Amino acid sequence: MMTASGQTALLEETRLTAGRIFEPIADELQLVETEFERQARSNIQVIAYIGDHLRRSGGKRVRPALTILSNYAVGGNGSNQSAIRMATVMEFLHTATLVHDDVIDKADTRRNRPSINSEFGNQTAVLMGDWLYMSAFETSLAERSLSILDILTAVTRKMTEGELLQLTLLGRTDISEAQYFDVIARKTAYLFSACCEIGSLLGNATSDQQIAMRDYGMNLGVAFQLIDDLLDFTSSEEVLGKPAGADLIEGKLSLPLILLLQAEPAMRAQIQQVMSEASYHNVTRDSLLEALERTGALQMTLQRAIEYASAAISSIEGLNDSVYKDALCSIPGYIVERDH
Ligand code: IPE
Ligand code: IPE
Ligand code: MG
Ligand code: MG
Repeated sequence: MMTASGQTALLEETRLTAGRIFEPIADELQLVETEFERQARSNIQVIAYIGDHLRRSGGKRVRPALTILSNYAVGGNGSNQSAIRMATVMEFLHTATLVHDDVIDKADTRRNRPSINSEFGNQTAVLMGDWLYMSAFETSLAERSLSILDILTAVTRKMTEGELLQLTLLGRTDISEAQYFDVIARKTAYLFSACCEIGSLLGNATSDQQIAMRDYGMNLGVAFQLIDDLLDFTSSEEVLGKPAGADLIEGKLSLPLILLLQAEPAMRAQIQQVMSEASYHNVTRDSLLEALERTGALQMTLQRAIEYASAAISSIEGLNDSVYKDALCSIPGYIVERDH
């Protein structure tokens, strides 16, 4: 096991800014935008309209970037039609989960715009999410690859399981770390893992390379959700482009609060109060943040994210050196340090 300072050093060593990380695949990401536009076309006006709205509102495009980088990193050509098409499919799947997630979480903003549910209503959002899922599968059939379909069906089921599991845990303050990690692996990390594995498969990876990419994605995805959950406490709606402080209001007990309760069980009443009132009116967000800081719960959550981020880098140690591997090694640091 690497020491904490060793892990931080590993992330520092591989640090590049977000712009630099995606620079080697800037042209490919442009092709993904064009392909997204193509896949979102429809004769049904409302679908075309919402599809366009979703594409324009952007997002960090982390998942297509991972698909393409993984492809190149094992020696593939990430600009070929299959790689671009599947990178876009992965962003479609991600978009479908966001559209449904905002219905479930009753979130009114996403990517600095009104969410689909708040602008068009829940019925339209549910159906649009379904449409995105099925379009993604239809497009992926063009690969004629059962291995890819295997991964896509498994990941879609896991993401749904993650969201369902999370629903069953809503409002509870007795969630264990193991239950929390199980939820975040399913709802977020498997998709990261699938992006990396599919990218590598399309690049004709050896089985060792495929496993390395799958593990990298899994570790990275856990780190990503840990930081998302941390930012929910420390950031603002303006910076995130989506509601901040929302998880607890929605009844979700994420790792910072699990650790806070371990340190100070007496905080349970206040946490329960925010959940049941669904507001920070009586127990303020600032007072919670103060407790999270005082007990080191935020710092410990960050430390966990750093552990997973550095495990991601270690997973791909064996790949041949390339600018693409360098980019993959920089992403964990970027994810841990991001502000949105
Ligand atoms: C949001 O994902 C959902 C989570 C898994 C936390 P992103 O933070 O990648 O969202 P966009 O695509 O950049 O908006
Ligand atoms: C993200 O969970 C998981 C998804 C699969 C969408 P969150 O509920 O934390 O995501 P955000 O914060 O709304 O993006
Ligand atoms: Mg949400
Ligand atoms: Mg969140």
